[in-house]
Amino acid sequence: LSPVRAVDGGARPLVIAHRGASAYAPENTLAAVDRAAALGIDWVENDVQRTKDGELVVLHDDSLQRTTDVEEVFPGRAPWKVRDFTAAEIARLDAGSWFDPAYAGARVPTLEQFVERVGRHRQKLLLEIKNPQLYPGIEQQTLKVLGNEGWLDRRHVKHRLIVQSFSADSVRTVHELKPAVRTGFLGTPPVADLPAYAAFTDQINPSHGSLSRGYVTAVHAFDGAHGKPLEVLTWTVNDAAAARRVAGFGVDGIITNAPDVVRDAVGG
Ligand code: G3P
Ligand code: CA
Repeated sequence: LSPVRAVDGGARPLVIAHRGASAYAPENTLAAVDRAAALGIDWVENDVQRTKDGELVVLHDDSLQRTTDVEEVFPGRAPWKVRDFTAAEIARLDAGSWFDPAYAGARVPTLEQFVERVGRHRQKLLLEIKNPQLYPGIEQQTLKVLGNEGWLDRRHVKHRLIVQSFSADSVRTVHELKPAVRTGFLGTPPVADLPAYAAFTDQINPSHGSLSRGYVTAVHAFDGAHGKPLEVLTWTVNDAAAARRVAGFGVDGIITNAPDVVRDAVGG
């Protein structure tokens, strides 16, 4: 059994709420975490980046434009990059109205606020280090925040935390800084390259469009950084048919905006 499945005690794929339950609440906000919890979903994915003054915040895009009212609040500061705004400036933004007026006033959370909320719900965290090339040292800083919040305690590390990135360098850095932390590489590396990835990662996490049963089987054949078979979490699967398709390939987890739909489809 793979570690995630063993920890969670079942053979069905884990269901992971992508940016929170982002089909139903604004992505990467505390409201999206709450919505996942209300649906009974215990794994939440998020994206971490850094502000101008060095605070870690949870946001997907490298710009604040799409998911906040930054254009109205700070006109003239195009292209509204996260790294060009202070944490205090970002805290003033409305990160909910773009999604639905019912969420007006939702904020861009700091990483600290986000993990505190995930912890309060007793959920588990799939944390993505986003655009690490823009933020030198973000791996160490992320681990520091996680440590301060108790997420590097033995039980958390073993059962409740995975850190992933599209950057192999970033994943390797996390593994080297804190070897106990489980990690995932986002992408679909050629099978011939998997042994190199397995030295520093526990998971290979591909887009579902690029996935096949043969690839999942090939990934499972290698042991990952913690000596257990490499796992596969796939993204972003938002309908029942696609969920059943990837579950049939034997994936270990499905990352989805609509976790209730996927859970109903695969019984996870
Ligand atoms: O968790 C995987 C998925 O989030 C990667 O894509 O662009 O949604 O961060 P993206
Ligand atoms: Ca992500």
